[in-house]
Amino acid sequence: MNHHPPLSGFFITLEGGEGAGKSTQIQLLASALRDAGHEVVVTREPGGSSGAEAIRGLILTGGFGFSAVTEALLFSAARLDHLEKTIRPALQRGAVVLCDRFFDSTRAYQGASGAADPAILSALETIAVGATRPDLTLIFDLPPADGLRRAAARRGHGQADRFESEALGFHEKLRAGFLAIAQHEPERCRVIDAARPVEAIAGDVKAIVLAKLGARRA
Ligand code: TYD
Repeated sequence: MNHHPPLSGFFITLEGGEGAGKSTQIQLLASALRDAGHEVVVTREPGGSSGAEAIRGLILTGGFGFSAVTEALLFSAARLDHLEKTIRPALQRGAVVLCDRFFDSTRAYQGASGAADPAILSALETIAVGATRPDLTLIFDLPPADGLRRAAARRGHGQADRFESEALGFHEKLRAGFLAIAQHEPERCRVIDAARPVEAIAGDVKAIVLAKLGARRA
């Protein structure tokens, strides 16, 4: 297994279904943390390094009809590159890393629909992620129909991507998948009610994150 030096930073991932408001919240959280004096690195998956961004294009707009396991392999390859090039170096410097989606998205999107065997996904996590697990995961939860409506409004006349165009039933399973992860790992995960106004959500997010950071540094 890979051995890495201890990482002094703090690794936060944001997760949830389509249109949950993660990208707005990640920017608000980044500026709150910078105001509090932290170095903050904002990144996203799939992507966050040039190789991973190239893989992103293959999966989301390539139209190759990959199976769920093939997609999981590609997301994992992108994740490994992202960790090596962007996330671990930032954590080694002591930065707070805010990552829009991470391995819970693979568990939920490729796994919750029943498409990919959980044992395969778990093996891929071991290979791609190793010991660099998030210190905190915020799961943005809202009814899928509302999220899809928001995502469509944001997109305007653009084409829906690979996952946004899945049926509502898929998005319901996704939501249940994320909530099951939160229930299973309560130490790491916090569920955020994302159906509320932006400011209310941002207030909760900031309070949760500052408390966690404070507890760690105490
Ligand atoms: P993106 O446009 O970044 O979506 P969002 O704004 O909703 O975060 O596209 C990423 C898509 O890829 C999104 O539909 C979720 C999906 N995805 C997976 O299926 N598995 C994964 O491991 C990751 C990271 C994302």
